[in-house]
Amino acid sequence: MTTETAPVLQGIELKKTYRSKDRTVEALKGVSFGVMPGEIFGIVGESGSGKSTLLRMISGIEHPDSGRLLHNGIDYTGSTPGQTGRFLQVIFQDAYGSFDPHLTMRKSLMECSNATMSEAELMIKKVGLDVELLDRRPKLLSGGQCQRMAIARALLTHGDILLCDEITSALDVTTQAQVVELITDLNSTEDVAIVFVSHDIALVSNICNRIMVLNNGDVVDEGITSEVIAHPTHEYTKRLLDAVI
Ligand SMILES: Nc1ncnc2c1ncn2[C@@H]1O[C@H](COP(=O)(O)OP(=O)(O)OP(=O)(O)O)[C@@H](O)[C@H]1O
Ligand SMILES: [Mg+2]
Repeated sequence: MTTETAPVLQGIELKKTYRSKDRTVEALKGVSFGVMPGEIFGIVGESGSGKSTLLRMISGIEHPDSGRLLHNGIDYTGSTPGQTGRFLQVIFQDAYGSFDPHLTMRKSLMECSNATMSEAELMIKKVGLDVELLDRRPKLLSGGQCQRMAIARALLTHGDILLCDEITSALDVTTQAQVVELITDLNSTEDVAIVFVSHDIALVSNICNRIMVLNNGDVVDEGITSEVIAHPTHEYTKRLLDAVI
């Protein structure tokens, strides 16, 4: 990776505070990062560290209190994906919950992306599923199949970044490994950068080129995965690593 390559996605000093009657949470305290084209960028941290908050800001589901978000150098802070027709597709832990239970997969996939029938069928094969599953409703799929459908739906929008929030956490170990393999395969064949969020530093470091460690809304470590693993600078990262050895 050369230094001249521009990031496909950039976050600059992102801050977000949640306020309610009885508590105030600084979920993001000034988070900056860059995702390079085609890479798998990992975001890791314990529960409550701000990972999902950050993905919601990136995807435009919610907006930061301050800071900027850039896609291919263009500032999109404060706009929503619908308004700009952009790129950033999120896949969530709960694959079932991200589909309308009343619609067949075929309808869900085509409605979301304006894909043709044959595009949808081609994509279904790419994610390793049988075309006949397109005629089922989400309930009649396994968790792994449903997650593959969510990945197919995201890829059909032809964005250049896929945002994955704990997408394997609800799956058994074997299915988890299959979905991880699918993600890494698609990363190379579909020319899409992936932001991969997980609390599991072992999993993240297996598949990501670079990782960022979040702790209480702060970035405490960031860099090439092998370097962060070999030389963690922050006690928190060392603790996460110690926990898996
Ligand atoms: N909509 C909200 N309203 C109030 N507080 C929130 C909201 N969303 C997140 N928070 C708080 O912000 C902090 C970060 O939450 P977030 O969901 O981003 O963590 P996470 O790293 O994704 O955790 P997990 O691994 O459990 O998914 C937590 O303290 C959480 O309680
Ligand atoms: Mg989360």
